[in-house]
This record gives sequence, C-alpha cells and structure tokens, in this order.
Amino acid sequence: MERIHFNEVVTRDGFQNEPAFVPTDAKVALIDELSACGYAKIEVTSFTSAKAIPMLRDAEEVMGRIRRVPGVETTVLVPNVRGAERALESRADELNLVMSTSETHNLANLRMPREKSFGGLREVIDMARGKVPVNVSLSCCFGCPMEGDVPEAEVLRWADRFAELGVRGLTICDTTGMAHPTQVTRLTRALQQRFGNLQLTLHFHNTRGMGLANVLASVNEGITRFDGSLGGLGGCPYAPGATGNICSEDAIHMLQAMGYDTGIDLPRLLAVARSLPAIVGHDVPGQVAKAGFITDLHPAPSYVAELRVSAS
Ligand code: COA
Ligand code: ZN
Repeated sequence: MERIHFNEVVTRDGFQNEPAFVPTDAKVALIDELSACGYAKIEVTSFTSAKAIPMLRDAEEVMGRIRRVPGVETTVLVPNVRGAERALESRADELNLVMSTSETHNLANLRMPREKSFGGLREVIDMARGKVPVNVSLSCCFGCPMEGDVPEAEVLRWADRFAELGVRGLTICDTTGMAHPTQVTRLTRALQQRFGNLQLTLHFHNTRGMGLANVLASVNEGITRFDGSLGGLGGCPYAPGATGNICSEDAIHMLQAMGYDTGIDLPRLLAVARSLPAIVGHDVPGQVAKAGFITDLHPAPSYVAELRVSAS
C-alpha cells in the first residue's frame, strides 16, 4: 500500500486566521491530541512578528509546553532570521521558511520584496545547516489574488534557487485556492522531474471547492506529502479572500477509502475534529466530522422490512 504523509497545520495556518485568540492551553491540548493520531509532522506555530500575526504571539510558550512524540516532527513557520533564532531556541525539528512567488503577495504578507526575503532566508539556511532540516513553503504558486497568474517558470525559478541551497523539502502552496486539477497535474509533473530528490509537499486551500480534486491530481502524479488543516480551518490574513485549507480528516478519509496508507488513526482523528468547533467557537467546514465515515451505516426505515416480506 502506498504511504501518504500528512502535515497538520491547523494550529498555524488555521489559528493565524481565527477572529478570536485561541487560548494557549487549548492550543497545547489540541497539539498533544493530534500528536497521538499518527501524523508525520505537525506545524505547531509561526515565529513571526506579533504585530503581523497576533493570534500566534504565544509561539514560545506553545513550543515549550507541547509533548514531543517520537516519529512526529515538529515544524514551525519562519519568515526571517529573527524567526529562525526563536525557532532554534524552541527546539523545532524543522524550520519551514516562507516566501511568495508573487511580488505583490510577498510585499503584502512579509512587507519586503521577494529578493530581500530570499536573502534573509539564505542566511537562515546557513544558520540551520548541521542543526535542523529546512523546508521552504512557496506561496501563491498557482496564482495570486492581486496579480493573477503566476507563471510556472517563476515557480520553478524560486524552487531552483532554494534547491541549490540544499534545502530538504519544498512546499508548493495554493494560498487562496486558485489551482485546478489540470494545472496541478502540469506543475507537479514538472516539479517531480526537476526536484524528485527533494521532499515535495502540496498545500491546497479549498476556497473554490477544488481542494480534494487537486489532492487527487497530485497523488496521480506521485506526490506523497500534503499539508492539511483539521476541520478545514485556515487562511493567510494578508491574501484577500483567503479561506480554509483542505480539511485533513476529509482528505485522509478519501485517501484511506481509496486504499492509501496515511498512517492516521482516523476514528481518533475524527473525535479530535469534533472537538474543534467548541475550541474556536464556531462551525467549521469539514464534512466527514458531520456525515461520519462511508462505512458508518444507518438503520433502514421500518417499512423496508415490511416491503421485503411482502416481496418474498
Ligand atoms: N519574530 C518576532 N518579532 C519580529 C520578527 C520575528 N520573526 N521579525 C521582526 N520582528 C519585530 C521586530 O523586532 C520589530 O519590532 P519593534 O517594532 O518592537 O521594533 C517589528 O517586528 C518590525 O520589524 P521589521 O523587521 O521592520 O518587520 P516588518 O514590519 O517589515 O515585518 C515580518 C516583516 C516578516 C516580520 C512580518 O511581516 C511578519 O511577521 N509576517 C508574517 C506574515 C505571516 O505569517 N503570514 C501568514 C503566513 S503565510
Ligand atoms: Zn495556507
């Protein structure tokens, strides 16, 4: 059975975009629950400026209090050298660096041109060498809500520049759910050909309902790593119109039904997903938590038995 690895991002991509601050105790308890579900990786928080992302201003405390489970990597989002220093102090297992392939989105989100981001991130990669592996998340790889098309060549150019610096992995992000399956097939094929030696992860948002179709298109091209967010929470506060990531439990449920090994204890994960609305104080987009598994059967109405008897 083919193995698919999931990175859970709800406490980073999800909580950064919540209207109300999720209390630190609730974040720590949720991450500890998720660590027992079989994830390959959990993106716990981000070491960004508290002014830019106030919802994750408790990053140090969260990292200090969560239970570390062998086999579950703890990663954190890092936008600059200051973020990397904080992440290393907090003993992150991986640094997930971030910049955008769109100049406008990079200016909006990180307040600097792409070239300046790249320079800072190159320094971070030097700092991390010999200490922890580095992944780079490239935002807006399938389009930018302010610029429109982001050419495939532009995505490959930034991917190339980071690959040359010796990063372990690249995450190709569809920050505002603009990707469609044909585009995903094309780009993942090009990425697999060029960067087959790197860990390639796909990060989709379900903004326009194409999230799971895009997962499937990627899997069909041999991609085996995905970011997902519990309940389908998520979104970048500096990308207009951004809404939730693909819902982890919905994607995992689909892939398991298709015969893939995700390593996830799905009943356990579903129980955690069902606790999420109470944590954030509102309904969440995930569907399997509401509908149950395809294997959960319902009793037939009583007249069905009567019809069977009269028909026999
Ligand atoms: N962690 C904590 N504080 C940081 C920091 C970091 N990684 N980087 C900068 N700061 C602080 C500086 O010390 C400074 O503090 P001060 O005002 O008290 O002096 C302040 O933030 C501004 O610093 P500056 O370097 O001028 O940053 P900026 O205002 O140009 O913002 C970023 C740049 C990258 C720090 C900021 O835009 C950011 O954190 N963006 C993250 C966006 C994000 O996570 N989006 C969602 C995920 S894609
Ligand atoms: Zn995202």
